[in-house]
Amino acid sequence: MKVRKAVIPAAGLGTRMLPATKTVPKEMLPLVDKPVIQYIIEEAVASGIEDILIVTNRAKSAMDDYFDYYPELETRLNQAGKEAELTQVRRAADLANIFYVRQKETKGLGHAIWRAKRFVGEEPFAVLLGDDIMRAKKPVTLQLVEAAEKYDASAVGVQRVATEAISKYSSVKISPLEERIFSISDMNEKPAPSEMFSNYAILGRYVLTAKIFDLLEHLRPGYGGEIQLTDGLRELCFQDHMVAVDFEGQRYDTGNLNGFLEATIDFALDHPATGAWLKQFLQEKAAHL
Ligand code: UTP
Repeated sequence: MKVRKAVIPAAGLGTRMLPATKTVPKEMLPLVDKPVIQYIIEEAVASGIEDILIVTNRAKSAMDDYFDYYPELETRLNQAGKEAELTQVRRAADLANIFYVRQKETKGLGHAIWRAKRFVGEEPFAVLLGDDIMRAKKPVTLQLVEAAEKYDASAVGVQRVATEAISKYSSVKISPLEERIFSISDMNEKPAPSEMFSNYAILGRYVLTAKIFDLLEHLRPGYGGEIQLTDGLRELCFQDHMVAVDFEGQRYDTGNLNGFLEATIDFALDHPATGAWLKQFLQEKAAHL
């Protein structure tokens, strides 16, 4: 099994980040000096992905502009001798082969992924949620690709979450295969703590076989009246082997204010241009809190 393609669903309305996301896609909000979506594309590329499909909507054209050339700006930077800036601007446009498809109605994550059917064809493919950022030594998508290849299975990224927090996620029913890898036999979306299968929650990364498209196509609306990816994954795990990878790395949900701020602070502390300054700033702040 070779995974060459990835799908990034980024057509959500971003209602948890309003009013900023009324006109700026949440995937385009800057984390230090790059938009959120660039980190996700960089993870895909570092995981061996060659072709990437972003699922967008009519309010998100800033994303395709960002990954395009911008001759007027580039000429100006060139004339001003701003080589570092020019390299950065060009790099974003040359990162990967990026394709776009629109989700014409916001009918849920499962529906957004179903829009990738023609792009994917019959190959296994990765899914990276457009607002979930992972900071990891080995890219999280690569950790999933390796497990999917080893077990000839679909793979989902999971981590343990607190029982009180499980109702924000999908919980998986698992049995161990090896350290950090489990076989999945069932799952449920946003369960109450009394109904969860385990504390392992699915978090933003998947490697799926093309069989998911037929399953998504025939789904009825589920939780929240939307076509839920979890409902499709549940059917898939009944029909085919699916593994859960307890991935190594830190996950940030940049689609909510706290997650976005956590990511901003952690990435800024690590960034050569801002790290030393921010550390001192935070220390001074903390002393007066
Ligand atoms: P979220 O629920 O995190 O995104 O969906 P949202 O709907 O934008 O968020 P809020 O609740 O309104 O703030 C998870 C992922 O699925 C995508 C989102 O863009 C995000 O990457 N998504 C969701 C779609 O592409 N289409 C949809 O219809 C729903």
